Amino acid sequence: MAEDLKLIDGTKKAQYESLIPQIKALVEGESDLVANLANIAAALKEQFGWFWVGFYLVKNEVLVLGPFQGPVACTRITKNRGVCGSSWSTAKTLIVPDVAVFPGHIACSSLSKSEIVVPIIVNEKVVGVLDVDSEQLNNFDTIDQQYLEAIIALISFN
Ligand code: SME
Repeated sequence: MAEDLKLIDGTKKAQYESLIPQIKALVEGESDLVANLANIAAALKEQFGWFWVGFYLVKNEVLVLGPFQGPVACTRITKNRGVCGSSWSTAKTLIVPDVAVFPGHIACSSLSKSEIVVPIIVNEKVVGVLDVDSEQLNNFDTIDQQYLEAIIALISFN
């Protein structure tokens, strides 16, 4: 597909509905994982303008920073640590309306106020997470969860 994104205004749901076929088209002709994760991070950042969006991948039993859009971030997160490490150990999507009250939250930036982390599960094992941070409190809900999980399902990790 052409390397430009059609951005739309509208409800969160409408924005995801517009974006998902475009992400599908971006990744379906490409087998390289890093290339696809990089484009997904860029597409989400462009459409939603979130503070930070990116991936951490499990390498030697540690989450290591992968492709992302936004300010520089911590590079390694151990299991159970922070929102990302908790999503990894529980294999569940975590929605954090106020990061200040999440026990053990890792503050890569004091500007981040709310967060959603979606685990990437392959053959029943978490192989990474998608992490999205917002400068606004309470910016993520189950609509984000539903659509971000659908976006993760488009990625081939083989
Ligand atoms: N806040 C995350 C760390 C990653 S950064 O937000 C990019 C956490 O608590 O796991």
